[in-house]
Amino acid sequence: MSSKIKTLNEKIALSKLGGGQKRIDKQHEKKKLTARERILYLLDEGSFEEIGALVTHRTKDFGMEDQKFYGDGVVTGYGTVDGRLVYVFAQDFTVFGGSLSETHAEKICKIMDMAVNVGAPIIGLNDSGGARIQEGVRSLGGYADIFYRNVQASGVIPQISAIMGPCAGGAVYSPAMTDFTIMVQDTSYMFVTGPNVVKTVTNEEVTSEELGGASVHSTKSGVAHKTSANDVECLEDIKKLLSYLPQSNREKPKNLDFELKDEIRESLADIVPDNPNKPYDMHSVIEGIIDEDSFYEIHKDYAENIIVGFARLGGKSIGIVANQPMFLAGVLGVKSSKKAARFVRFCDAFNIPLLVLEDVPGFLPGTDQEWNGIIVHGAKLLYAFSEATVPRVTVITRKAYGGAYDVMNSKHIGADMNFAWPNAEIAVMGAKGAAEIIFKREITTADDPEAKWKEKEAEYAELFANPYSAAERGYIDEVILPENTRRKLIKAFSMLENKEVNKPKRKHGNIPL
Ligand code: HXC
Repeated sequence: MSSKIKTLNEKIALSKLGGGQKRIDKQHEKKKLTARERILYLLDEGSFEEIGALVTHRTKDFGMEDQKFYGDGVVTGYGTVDGRLVYVFAQDFTVFGGSLSETHAEKICKIMDMAVNVGAPIIGLNDSGGARIQEGVRSLGGYADIFYRNVQASGVIPQISAIMGPCAGGAVYSPAMTDFTIMVQDTSYMFVTGPNVVKTVTNEEVTSEELGGASVHSTKSGVAHKTSANDVECLEDIKKLLSYLPQSNREKPKNLDFELKDEIRESLADIVPDNPNKPYDMHSVIEGIIDEDSFYEIHKDYAENIIVGFARLGGKSIGIVANQPMFLAGVLGVKSSKKAARFVRFCDAFNIPLLVLEDVPGFLPGTDQEWNGIIVHGAKLLYAFSEATVPRVTVITRKAYGGAYDVMNSKHIGADMNFAWPNAEIAVMGAKGAAEIIFKREITTADDPEAKWKEKEAEYAELFANPYSAAERGYIDEVILPENTRRKLIKAFSMLENKEVNKPKRKHGNIPL
């Protein structure tokens, strides 16, 4: 063997430190995997090709010249997931805490550029102590190079971030600009400033977990779209998520084989209670409509009054936005509007048709909501639906009141097909409140005001609390029986498959941020 080849083999062997080459299986559920194990678990067997394994940092300061590790704390390359190309990087916490140096950033940027030019998703497996402190501004510049690329790639290729260890300081902003952030429970955290800084500045004592653990970000802040119990589950979650997505905005998601049969679902007939004030679980409606076990929920524990997620319907990938009467009666609020708006924009950017299941009594009233800007946040959802050009279909399962009727993918803001179940109530507000306002004088001057109120409430309900006046105007295309919903939707989305909308040229709109 020539000495050059021997040296190369030695270098390659060194670059593989920090993780075995063996594939791992689900037995590793409890373990925190190494960077290399994570990549090997994520990708199809034998598909990983590494890029830049021999890169080392260029820093001379602080004795760093003598501490060089091949790969410089990040493993980068490409491979396949279920036979489809993806680019991936995994930070290696065993090398300077996975901190980001100039060269570490260059490696990530290199594969990001390739991913955009080729048109394939990029997946970042983050596990890093942030900017490499010994490199000063060079590492800050490296972050900015990545942030810039995150933005250029936004809406062009799907970008998925897994947080599998620390993610502190400016490091959080790259995941925040990607499409989905999945955090591993108990072993990951994200914050702009850590507990020590918090204590110094605000005197508040808080642990890393309390400040930015997976539970916090999946329930309170909404930074995490999903949490996984461990590394293996996180990587499985990424694979599943990818199955609903196209490779880039140049493509549509892959359709699975499907043959239309009768598609009647009797279970849907009895879900909505007769009493309009009684809640029910919109998940049952979703499950009754979609292909079996195909729902992949996003932001499950955040703003639970709205449900968003991917599913398959007749083999096609769709995005679902649904009010959830089980939480706050399904009202629209600050958080739920933001959650749904972001999801709608993702689906629109990546050619994923939208299904809206509507049961909404209106916007949440109160000082908390007004002071926190429900006006501007509610407008986000209105804006997101109005600009979306993918096939858009709505089913009103019960209430569609007030401004929320307009916002929730109404015909007026560009929905293609609007269905309502026979018990739907489409009106400015609920019959009780409406009667109180418009028949105030008659009610207060009546001998029995309570009875009069009830009479007027019934009168109003008879006239407006139904889907027929909307259907007469064409705002509702068809009133359908619940059990026929799946069939109607499969046919509607199939009919809309080749929808195209040409919009006037503009640089970009100005969504109310
Ligand atoms: C260089 C780092 C490092 C960093 C960790 N290490 N973070 N080296 N730069 N940012 C090294 C440690 O020196 C140590 O090296 C090894 O990684 C493991 O770190 P430990 O501290 O021993 O591990 P642990 O106890 O698990 O704690 C992990 C940690 C902690 C919480 C992440 O290391 C930490 O607080 N690091 C600094 C975090 C930070 O403030 N980063 C800068 C954020 S500002 P040895 O040789 O001992 O094994 C930022 C700005 C970006 O990122 C701005 C962009 C806009």
